[in-house]
Amino acid sequence: MSRALVTGGASGIGAALVSRLRSEGFDVDSLDLVTGFDVSDPDHWDAVGPVEVACLNAGVLGGPADPAALTVDGYRRAMAVNVDGVVLGVRRLATVMPSRGRIVCTASLAGLTAVPDDPVYAATKHAVVGFVRSVAASLSERGISVNAVCPGFADTPMVAGSARERLTAAGFPLISAADVAEAAWVALQSGETGHAWVVQPGRPPLDFRFPTLPGPRRAHESVGPPPSLS
Ligand SMILES: NC(=O)c1ccc[n+]([C@@H]2O[C@H](COP(=O)([O-])OP(=O)(O)OC[C@H]3O[C@@H](n4cnc5c(N)ncnc54)[C@H](O)[C@@H]3O)[C@@H](O)[C@H]2O)c1
Repeated sequence: MSRALVTGGASGIGAALVSRLRSEGFDVDSLDLVTGFDVSDPDHWDAVGPVEVACLNAGVLGGPADPAALTVDGYRRAMAVNVDGVVLGVRRLATVMPSRGRIVCTASLAGLTAVPDDPVYAATKHAVVGFVRSVAASLSERGISVNAVCPGFADTPMVAGSARERLTAAGFPLISAADVAEAAWVALQSGETGHAWVVQPGRPPLDFRFPTLPGPRRAHESVGPPPSLS
């Protein structure tokens, strides 16, 4: 039986990912803080063995809109769970995952757009998208793919309190955790790597296209992309 792991698998999108992968016949390990696994702890990753599929999904909100009200502990925790948790996971998987291994990271629409209500969360999710897009080339040399899913507001315990009340009052649709897990499965099966998949209620997962950046110009001549620096 093929093996899989899901971080943050005890709740919300992670629990739906566990169910989705089990329905595909995977033997799935849920690695969650509530069961003693901290994604931000490199020692915990050292104990992780080979899996064919990995969902690096654990995440937390970042904090208040006003940076003056941000606590250092809150900031560091968001960076540790959302960014270290993905980078350290990919670092370990690059060592133990077999060729043809597949990774999907749960980023967010907050990784593609500004989020004035929670700038630190947006910073962490932009980091996840940038990391996934950038590390894909190196992982492909090992035969491993990595993609990101970028859901909008999802119906999980993360969307709670006044935020949920405001969304409900506005009639704003939340995507189900099961639909996010389905989108992650589409990304895993896509044969693509380094892509970010937008996940919105009522729409099929969208393979997001980033605009081409302007390159440098020398006098009246445009210059091609930079050479590899490694
Ligand atoms: N809910 C949304 O609207 C939404 C939208 C876009 C992206 N996301 C992302 O989806 C992912 C899952 O979120 P969710 O909505 O299911 O939230 P959730 O709060 O329901 O679940 C998060 C899970 O992560 C676990 N976790 C937290 N810190 C951890 C750590 N250090 N190590 C291991 N596990 C840890 C929690 O125990 C919990 O089980 C997160 O990365 C989140 O940022 C959520």
